[in-house]
Amino acid sequence: MVMDVMRAAIDRENAGDRVIHMEVGQPGAAAPHAVIAAARAALRDGYFGYTESLGIRALRSRIARHYSEAYGLEVPPERVVVTTGSSAGFNLAFLSAFDAGDRIALPTPGYPAYRNIMSALGLETVEIETDANSRFALTPDMLAAAHARSPLRGVLIASPANPTGTMMAPDALAALVSAAHDLGIRFISDEIYHGLVYEGVAETALKSSADAIVVNSFSKYYCMTGWRVGWMILPENLVRPVERIAQNLYISPPDISQRAALAAFDATDELEAVKAGYAANRRLLLRRLPEIGFDDHAPVDGAFYIYVSVRRFANDSVEFTRRMLAEAGVAATPGPDFDRARGHGTVRFSFAGTETDMAEAVDRLAAWLGDSGRTGK
Ligand SMILES: Cc1ncc(COP(=O)(O)O)c(C=O)c1O
Repeated sequence: MVMDVMRAAIDRENAGDRVIHMEVGQPGAAAPHAVIAAARAALRDGYFGYTESLGIRALRSRIARHYSEAYGLEVPPERVVVTTGSSAGFNLAFLSAFDAGDRIALPTPGYPAYRNIMSALGLETVEIETDANSRFALTPDMLAAAHARSPLRGVLIASPANPTGTMMAPDALAALVSAAHDLGIRFISDEIYHGLVYEGVAETALKSSADAIVVNSFSKYYCMTGWRVGWMILPENLVRPVERIAQNLYISPPDISQRAALAAFDATDELEAVKAGYAANRRLLLRRLPEIGFDDHAPVDGAFYIYVSVRRFANDSVEFTRRMLAEAGVAATPGPDFDRARGHGTVRFSFAGTETDMAEAVDRLAAWLGDSGRTGK
């Protein structure tokens, strides 16, 4: 659905209208200067070939070092796998850790690609509804109850999450990882929004279990969506299976992107300035959206999303976002993308754009909701 909204927004722009994009979850900023410079240097050299399937060794070592710098955790480079974005990481993780027919738990609302990839691979997804009572997180009790109904082979969570931006506190995450471990359920942790945290501290699932699979990416904090480069930290016994699957599925991640990504870890000042822009957007939206009626939303601890209830305006968020785009020129993503059962009452706004755009979007929404919007017609 987010892609359909984007297409409709582009149609409007082609017709000469200005649209404010709050639908797509990608940074507005370019990759850091050091990354671009590294790519330019690689281009001057000119030769790009396949790399080792698990990624170039310098990048695997640099990622391993990141775990000691960011989390105080020693991770051997041999357990680091560079992937074509975290999207490839999910495919590799599911293919190596599970068999067709296995049941995997996913909290909802959640990122839709997990269940779509799983169903393409013949895995059965077990969606577990979360809400404000558990801060939109799975608890050990919820996991144990689902496992008791019918055994689970895996569970996948993201923290901070998409679409809520809500993050699990380190102790809540540790308790869930341990519960999964005790029940013999493979834990997969999507840590793609680490680095983009405004409240609290992001902890890696690796702290609680070396058997967890951690998936991460250069797409979000590092502003490198189009470079298609991410990584995984694997338990030792999955490295070789993943290597063999990667060799056959796509041979290697892009050479140039890997060489460029090496520089991303040293671009902290630039990336923190980008993050400060998101933080300002977040403050603005948390202040102004409730004033215009979006006062019921998930806690925005991290990422660049705010997931709001639209129930006071409409019963159908797909129609509501269609009208928001057509009448206010603001694009947002309707909730059913993230929660098929309850998403008709919610919308996700992404605040990865500029502060000027965010302020204009709220002004437009205020004017729109001031008249036709409130009727929900
Ligand atoms: C939670 C989450 N995980 C993974 C991805 C995929 O990112 P990529 O394949 O660019 O690393 C996204 C993209 O929006 C996301 O929101």
